Amino acid sequence: MARRDLQNVRAFITGTSSGIGRALVEALVPYQPRIVAVARRAERLAELAEKVRSIGAEVFPFACDLSDPLVRREAVNFAARKLGAIDLLVNNAGTGALGRFEDTPPEILRQVMELNFFAPVEITYYALPLLKKGQRPIVVNVSSILGHRGIPWRAYYCASKFALHGFSESIRAELSRHGIDVLVVSPGRTRTELFDGPLEKGKEPAWPEPAPVSPEYVARRMVRAIIKGKAEIIPHPWGKGMVLLSRLAPRLMDWILKRYA
Ligand SMILES: NC(=O)c1ccc[n+]([C@@H]2O[C@H](COP(=O)([O-])OP(=O)(O)OC[C@H]3O[C@@H](n4cnc5c(N)ncnc54)[C@H](OP(=O)(O)O)[C@@H]3O)[C@@H](O)[C@H]2O)c1
Repeated sequence: MARRDLQNVRAFITGTSSGIGRALVEALVPYQPRIVAVARRAERLAELAEKVRSIGAEVFPFACDLSDPLVRREAVNFAARKLGAIDLLVNNAGTGALGRFEDTPPEILRQVMELNFFAPVEITYYALPLLKKGQRPIVVNVSSILGHRGIPWRAYYCASKFALHGFSESIRAELSRHGIDVLVVSPGRTRTELFDGPLEKGKEPAWPEPAPVSPEYVARRMVRAIIKGKAEIIPHPWGKGMVLLSRLAPRLMDWILKRYA
C-alpha cells in the first residue's frame, strides 16, 4: 500500500488530555496538523493547544464526557465545523477496569462498554461522511493486547477490547470500497494515567506485570503505522510474544493464567 502523507492532516482524536492520545498529538506536530482534541479535562486540552500552537499545530479542544451518548454526535459536528473533513480519526479514549468478575457488578461492564466500545462505534458512524471527504482517510482504534487474549481480573476490559477488534475487522472490509483504512493498535502496559482511573484504583493485580513503555513510544509506532497504512500493530515486543503464544498454545496460556488467578 502507498505511504500516507500526513502533512496538514485533519484529525479527530479522543483521549488527548493524557497518555497515548496526548503523545500522539505531539508526535503529529511536525506535520502541521489541524486536530480536534477530545477529553473531559478542558484545562489540559487548552494547555496542549497552547503548547503546540507555537510550533505549527492547530488544536481545537472539545471538552466532553464521551460516556454520554448524546455528546458523541456533538463532538463530530464540532469537527465538521472546524475541519470540514477528517483524514485521521483516532478512537483512543478508554478506561481500565480491574477486579475479579465475581466481585464486579454488571453495571461496571456497562460503564466500560459505553466508553471503550459504544463511543468508538458511534463516533465512527457519525464521522463517516467527513471521512469520505478526507484525504486517504483512516480510522485508528486503540485496543489492547487484551483484545487478543482474555486474562483474569480484567474480564470487562478484555470484553470491551475484543468487541472493538471484531467491529474493526468488519468495517475494515466494508469501508475499503470508500478508500477508508482501519488500523487497530494493540498496546501492552504503557506508563499512563489509565491505572489511576476510578475502576482501577486501590486494586492490585495478583501477578507481576511487565515494565511499561512510554506513551511517546506507542505514539511513534502509531504514526509509522498510519503512514504505512497498516491494518494492525502490537507496539510492545513482549505483547507480540504473548499474542503468538496464546494463538499457538492456547491451553498452555490457560494453564499459566489459571495459576496466576
Ligand atoms: N496504558 C496502558 O497500559 C494501555 C494498554 C493497552 C491499551 N491502552 C489503551 O490506550 C488508550 C489510551 O489510554 P492511556 O493508557 O493513554 O490512558 P490515560 O492516560 O488515562 O488516557 C485516557 C484518555 O481518555 C480520556 N477519557 C477517559 N474517560 C473519558 C470520558 N468519559 N470522556 C472523554 N474522554 C475520556 C482521558 O481524559 P479525561 O480524563 O480528561 O477525560 C484521557 O485523555 C485506552 O483506550 C486504553 O484502553 C492502554
